[in-house]
Amino acid sequence: MSAADDGPFRQGNLILRRVRPWTPGVQALLASLRLHGFDAAPSPNGFDETWERVGYLPGVTGDLADNAAMRSEQTLRSAARLLRRYHHSSALALNGLNATYLWQLPSRSPIEIICHGDFAPYNVVLNDGVVTGIIDFEAAHPGPLVWDLAYAVYRWAPLSVNMAAEGLDSFAGQIRRARIFLDVYGLPFDARNQMPDVVIQRLEALLAFMEREAARGSERYRRNLQDGHDHIYRDDIAYVAERSAEIVAALTE
Ligand SMILES: Nc1ncnc2c1ncn2[C@@H]1O[C@H](COP(=O)(O)OP(=O)(O)OP(=O)(O)O)[C@@H](O)[C@H]1O
Ligand SMILES: [Mg+2]
Repeated sequence: MSAADDGPFRQGNLILRRVRPWTPGVQALLASLRLHGFDAAPSPNGFDETWERVGYLPGVTGDLADNAAMRSEQTLRSAARLLRRYHHSSALALNGLNATYLWQLPSRSPIEIICHGDFAPYNVVLNDGVVTGIIDFEAAHPGPLVWDLAYAVYRWAPLSVNMAAEGLDSFAGQIRRARIFLDVYGLPFDARNQMPDVVIQRLEALLAFMEREAARGSERYRRNLQDGHDHIYRDDIAYVAERSAEIVAALTE
């Protein structure tokens, strides 16, 4: 995290990042979450022509592969609890938001909440092994609750074919974690059958987004495609599709 690579950087108790077309929406969302009592997202500290400012959330950051604490069951459970709380507050926050805000990702029907859009281990902060905060609202967009939840399960289980990290590389371990996530989140059993299909649709939407951005000249997504990131998602779509019945069974039995 440094100013030099154009990514977000820390300045005291603030994180600064470059303003984008969706920054007003993100700042309004963060403000509305606060109004509804949600304190686990960064505070919105405004923006000028160049920089957006949000509050710095203290804690450990990292990913499943490089941070053993991120892989613990306690962390997994606390992530599911926090997402549940976020969705509750986000549904309330939605009512206070002007419908004309732009978001980086397309809205999806039915609009029940503002999805975080990228609720993954690399976008939370940990304190004593517990997920205490959510960061990086750049992918936030209006949509259904299960749309956000399915992507979170994909990232936290993870339902991914090329996951080399200890305990996360077997399908059995992954569906066990997916089950824990949904149990703690409290998704009713009759809503679980659709999970594999929604994961697949969400990854297809991600692929479409990457390709559209690359075609529009985005250097970041052009590089992603060059580095084969699209193959990861295509492989994972096939992985989930082939095991769809087994996943549903594990989530509902
Ligand atoms: N509000 C915040 N509080 C604490 N740390 C933050 C905050 N925002 C960003 N960071 C730190 O900066 C890193 C990158 O921020 P962020 O995830 O928002 O950007 P990004 O463009 O998605 O970068 P990356 O692709 O590395 O995730 C985070 O992993 C985290 O360490
Ligand atoms: Mg991030």
